[in-house]
Amino acid sequence: MIAFSAMTPTGFSLADTELFCDGVSVAAIADAVGTPVYVNSAAQLRARFLALDRAFDDYPHSLHYALKANSLLGVVRIIKALGGAVDANSIWEIEVARRIGFAPREIVFTGVGKSGDELAQAVPLGLKAINVESAGELGRIEAIATALGVPARVAVRVNPDIDAKSHPHISTGLKINKFGVPVGEARDLFATLARRPSLQLVAIHVHIGSQITTLEPLRNAARFIAAMGRELKQAGLPLEYLDVGGGLGISYDGTPAIAAEDYVSAIVDEVRATGLPVVIEPGRAIVGPAATLVARVIDIKPRNALSEFVVIDAGMTELLRPALYGAFHRIEPVRPRGGAKKDYEIVGPVCESSDVVGRDRTLAPLEVGDLLAIRDAGAYGSAMASNYNRRPLPPEVIVDGGEWRVARRRQTVDDMLALES
Ligand SMILES: Cc1ncc(COP(=O)(O)O)c(C=O)c1O
Repeated sequence: MIAFSAMTPTGFSLADTELFCDGVSVAAIADAVGTPVYVNSAAQLRARFLALDRAFDDYPHSLHYALKANSLLGVVRIIKALGGAVDANSIWEIEVARRIGFAPREIVFTGVGKSGDELAQAVPLGLKAINVESAGELGRIEAIATALGVPARVAVRVNPDIDAKSHPHISTGLKINKFGVPVGEARDLFATLARRPSLQLVAIHVHIGSQITTLEPLRNAARFIAAMGRELKQAGLPLEYLDVGGGLGISYDGTPAIAAEDYVSAIVDEVRATGLPVVIEPGRAIVGPAATLVARVIDIKPRNALSEFVVIDAGMTELLRPALYGAFHRIEPVRPRGGAKKDYEIVGPVCESSDVVGRDRTLAPLEVGDLLAIRDAGAYGSAMASNYNRRPLPPEVIVDGGEWRVARRRQTVDDMLALES
């Protein structure tokens, strides 16, 4: 365990009119590596992980970092060094976790559509749990486990019909959503387990959405799962733990977000009476603020009487969230110029009108060649990057202990074409 105070100031700050990441000049990194580039703060990652972990105090828990948010090896190794575990959303994320050294019991496998091949590979591994999404999937797992002669450890993901009050595209806990097993059907499934020796029910799971910024839905989900855990115990199906999923939101606009302590105490308040350990699966809350996407201004042209288009060398191919959900990210010049602020529309280089990274921004005056920092891009940023327009995946830099290193080099055209004949 790395000694680190959660109070140590970390991450990105505009000191002496220039953006720094943990004391390292972001401009110096961009000049050396080129743009666009993701810059990750290892100190910020550690602080955010530890804030959640420590908030549990002595309540038994495991923190299964959701790999889907960002599975860069360098990032996940930091989580591992802190004693974290993982939540994988595909057999390939499981493979990444295994290569980093996570034991099967440190991995939960979620995902609304696990293929037959994925299940055939996952069941024999003896993971902490496969979080099951349907009666059909449970049956397919059972068939594999029966053939192996070893019971499969499963958790049923129950759809609690709770509104996460997040963006509709990232809300998963309503019965209209494709995720999980409806409550009534879950009860019917539990009733079949006594005569299914190849299935070992170890937990129940909920995950009601992502970027949840009010405590109530998270508390309600924990209350729901705790009540169901008690119900199962009374029915003679004691669980090993309760999995309350991820979803804790971050502040994208600089206003205060739910504190790790408040989030954790809401969960622990609800589940304490069950005495069961808790699994949480945070992704965004750990990595979101820990990375900035750095881009360069490549063109500026008139937009209307009041504002200009600023074309940058990063767009929906590097950071899809604005185009996908209209998501807001703070954007700021890496070296702000003096002079009156101006109104800009910050757009990417991709041939789609939705490729707008920041709408209607008022920023210090910009010139072609200036660097812009697109903040809080660590979650669902590089993880969702694509080669659309044959744009190469951007490099990733990790700043740690006052030094920086390239954790992933920029993709080349040869890398891209290597898969094609
Ligand atoms: C099952 C599950 N667990 C955890 C997460 C991580 O969510 P977040 O990054 O909002 O914490 C997700 C993402 O949507 C998910 O689907």
